[in-house]
Amino acid sequence: MKLSKEMFELLNEQVRNEFGAAYLYLSMAADFESKGFNGFSNWMKLQAQEETEHAMKIYGYMNERGAKVKLLAMSEPQSSWSSCLNAFKDALGHEQKVTAQINHIFESAQKEKDYATMSFIKWFVDEQVEEESNAEGIIEKFEFLGEDKKALYMLDKELGQRQ
Ligand code: FEO
Repeated sequence: MKLSKEMFELLNEQVRNEFGAAYLYLSMAADFESKGFNGFSNWMKLQAQEETEHAMKIYGYMNERGAKVKLLAMSEPQSSWSSCLNAFKDALGHEQKVTAQINHIFESAQKEKDYATMSFIKWFVDEQVEEESNAEGIIEKFEFLGEDKKALYMLDKELGQRQ
């Protein structure tokens, strides 16, 4: 069954949105790295990699449904953050935006009775719970430990362990 025009557009935009998230997190990684926070940078680089995988997952699904992905323009991401905590807060805000996009795709698929897309996008619905919870967990740690040099050193070390 061919994708409807609306479903094509939503999925096609989501490919851009996921690459957009990768772009934003890579920009955060570069900012962290330039300030000597190699652990935070490591975490963001891996996050950017995950987002690329998300985009490619949708790309693959569209291909399976016989649709040709059309890559869209991306806007330039922010390149500097006033504090480490603010970057993670922006990451959480971005994930909340992605959750709304994913939910909208699910709702539209449901409306159209496109069961295949509903089943496919369910993975993303679950993934978003994890994505938001990961970012929230880091923000809670920042808020608990504070942002003095010692706390930042500890957190940077911890996030550097992400593989
Ligand atoms: Fe692919 Fe972090 O949403």
